This record gives sequence, structure tokens and C-alpha cells, in this order.
Amino acid sequence: MTQLYSSLAKIYHEMYQHIFNYDEEFDFYDSILKKNGCTRILEVGCGSGMLARRFLKNGYNYLGLDLFNEMLDIARTEVPAGTFVQCDMRNLPFSGQFDAVLITGRSISYVTENRGIIDTLAGVYKSLKNNGLFVFGVFEANGIFNNLTDFEQVIEHNNKRIQRTSKLTMNLETGWTYDWYAKYMIEENGEVAEYDDYTTLRAFTKDEILLFLKLAGFEVLEILDEAKTMTFIARKF
Ligand SMILES: C[S@@+](CC[C@H](N)C(=O)[O-])C[C@H]1O[C@@H](n2cnc3c(N)ncnc32)[C@H](O)[C@@H]1O
Repeated sequence: MTQLYSSLAKIYHEMYQHIFNYDEEFDFYDSILKKNGCTRILEVGCGSGMLARRFLKNGYNYLGLDLFNEMLDIARTEVPAGTFVQCDMRNLPFSGQFDAVLITGRSISYVTENRGIIDTLAGVYKSLKNNGLFVFGVFEANGIFNNLTDFEQVIEHNNKRIQRTSKLTMNLETGWTYDWYAKYMIEENGEVAEYDDYTTLRAFTKDEILLFLKLAGFEVLEILDEAKTMTFIARKF
């Protein structure tokens, strides 16, 4: 499993403020939630709380959930008004209490086995009120596997320089899975620290997700396709 959300959690938090556009992401979720009259929401894979802050500021009744305590520690510091729980998305304990469940930041990519996907969707279904909304994004398998190239990112955050070199290789053990090796070089005050990180991620074809959703009892309302990602908006049926 990756170290990005445990020993490297602080680096994640610093880097992704420059990689993800959280304002845009919030606006996207906000418009769907408003359109569907959803106020009580669960964010799965809430990470360091960057969306939590925005949901709370805009009056949502919000609960954030993540697997890693190191991410939740940052979220609790960054968003003291927030409520956050540690839990594996494959084992959600809720029952009929949310208007909407969001799995943000394509966090479901870390669930690489069919059993885990089935358990996650069953837990989301159970967590929702009748007709509740489920929104989540995934990596799209064709987009990923047609262009499995190495890449480099350099982020300047305050007086820190974070350089990440990523190598992607096919895995295909449990689905459209691929291995991500990342080397981090972090330069601060003239000192350089290096870390290696390994993880496996899963991409999906559209048909796979549609079948998983159908088997879990969801009705699909909309699919948003981008070059390497897809976002699904579904309703508990
Ligand atoms: C790419 S980050 C996205 C975090 C946050 N949504 C954001 O946009 O910054 C993926 C998140 O999924 C969480 N995660 C990975 N596996 C998980 C699991 N099985 N259950 C719950 N959270 C998980 C990680 O700890 C991490 O915070």
C-alpha cells in the first residue's frame, strides 16, 4: 500500500493544493447536490479535508471519512469544525442517513478487487436514504492503458520544492490494474530528502462500472466522460 496517505500525508496535502482545483471540484459537487436537494452528505476518501472546508462553509451537514489517520489528523487541524471518521470504504457502517454519498478524488481506485468494489457499493447503498444520490469518479481503463507513460511533476509550496517522478506499469492482476512507482525528492532549506512509494491502482471500463452499479441497485442518472476519467451520478433505486 502507498505511503502517500500515511508517512507522506503532509507532502500529499502540500502537493495536491497545486494539483487539484478544489474550488472547481466543490462547485461541481455543489451544483449536483443543490439540484437534487441534498444537504446531509458523506464524503468518502475525504483526505486532508480540502473539500470538507468548502462543504461546511456552504452549510452542508457534512461527515468526512478516510482510511488513514494521518490524513484525518491534517483534516481535523485544517477544519476544526468538521466531523471526520476513520473507516475503510469497503466496510461502511451507516444505515439510511445520507442524502448523498460522494467518493472524491477517485479514491475508489485503491480498491483493486471485485469483492472490495461490491462491498463498497453495497455500503454506499445502505448508507443512503431512499432515492439518495451517489457521485464518484474513476480512472477510465482505455484512456489509462492507451497511454501508460512516465511523468514528472514539480510543485513549489512555501519554501519547499517537491519533485515527483512517476512510472506506471501494467499489472492486470485483479482487473484493469496498474502499478505506480513514485520517487519523491523534497528540497527544503538546502536539504534534500528522498522517498520511494509503490502502489497499485485500478481503472475501469464504463460497462464494468455500469454492471457494478446495476448489481448494487443503483440507477445511473448521468456519466461525465473525460480523457482518462469518468464520473458517475447515480441514485439509490
Ligand atoms: C487521491 S486521495 C483523495 C483525497 C481527497 N478527496 C482529495 O481530493 O484531496 C485518495 C484518498 O483515499 C483514501 N483511501 C484509500 N483507500 C481507502 C479506503 N479503502 N477507504 C477509505 N479511504 C481510502 C486515502 O487515504 C486518500 O485520502
